[in-house]
Amino acid sequence: MTNSDLVEIARQARDQAHAPYSNFQVGAALECADGRIFSGCNVENSSYGLSMCAERVAIFKAISEGFRNFKRIAVIADTRVPVRPCGACRQVISDLFPRDAEVILANLHGQIETTQISVLLPSPFDRSFF
Ligand code: THU
Repeated sequence: MTNSDLVEIARQARDQAHAPYSNFQVGAALECADGRIFSGCNVENSSYGLSMCAERVAIFKAISEGFRNFKRIAVIADTRVPVRPCGACRQVISDLFPRDAEVILANLHGQIETTQISVLLPSPFDRSFF
């Protein structure tokens, strides 16, 4: 599975987005160490604060199915430059992925950037520090 393959799965997940309030559809796909793939889309609510990001939908789906050994995650939206995960998703990714895990950022124009969660969130909250 290449990074582009994972982005394509995220792109397909984005088609399921429920985003009638922001009209900003997001898709995500993650790969587990054993190769299993989980995808997610953002799901909004009329009580806006209850909305959930695509990345966390994918991660929570995987956790709920008994998978927690994660390798990399891709996120895609219809943005001018590849989309960045929000701060809350960075914290969740940081908690559950290895520090050097790849985060693949993409947009619908076919642009793909690769970074690491340690770059996106250099100083996370981490209970083991305290
Ligand atoms: N959103 C995501 O799904 N992922 C992010 O990393 C940033 C934001 C969603 C939340 C909301 O449904 C919409 O994008 C606009 O903020």
